[in-house]
Amino acid sequence: MSTKVYIPPPKELEFLPSPPPLEGAGPFVLEIGPGKGEFLLHLAEQEPGTTFVAVEIRRGRFAKIAKRAAARGLKNVFLVLGDARECLTRLFRPGLFERIYVLFPDPWPKRRHSKHRLLKPELLARLRDYLKPGGAIYNATDAGFYSEEIVAAFEEVGGFEKHAVESLYPTYFEKKWKELGRAIDYWKFVKL
Ligand SMILES: C[S@@+](CC[C@H](N)C(=O)[O-])C[C@H]1O[C@@H](n2cnc3c(N)ncnc32)[C@H](O)[C@@H]1O
Repeated sequence: MSTKVYIPPPKELEFLPSPPPLEGAGPFVLEIGPGKGEFLLHLAEQEPGTTFVAVEIRRGRFAKIAKRAAARGLKNVFLVLGDARECLTRLFRPGLFERIYVLFPDPWPKRRHSKHRLLKPELLARLRDYLKPGGAIYNATDAGFYSEEIVAAFEEVGGFEKHAVESLYPTYFEKKWKELGRAIDYWKFVKL
């Protein structure tokens, strides 16, 4: 079985089409790891008055989503090439986002890779700061052990109320895991 290769984060952040304009009244929404960007672009079309910022660590994906957003004429999508674990503090002010989506984060099932898992208490505490009170973090996970770990991490960080929700959008990854018969947990963690 092939092992996924970890791609180290870029040293400098890059933006497409430009750094996000974060000074206005908003609303602002963040997606971490948009993958192929289907959900991000869908939301941006549905909510033209909202600024959508997505942080993606893989250059190829970052570039492709930006191209798709431009092809659809979307002016409210801003892509950041970077590692969400390190770039939030460099970009955003606390209380900025109404919603944060982290859908199907890579589970890194092997123990020696577990350090790469995104949703750990340290990042969640930061995401809580970047969320408005009453705002929510949405998560979908197909790996049972990771889902349990995520729920435990939210409990450790505190300040959230957990709700089970329905699928948000049939992304490539959601369809793939469903076809393989995997059970998927969908959560919404509301900041108290
Ligand atoms: C399994 S895919 C899920 C994509 C999408 N959210 C979906 O539901 O279809 C995980 C995505 O997270 C990105 N990613 C992984 N670690 C990241 C990090 N530290 N910062 C930003 N993006 C990351 C990956 O490159 C990939 O695009």
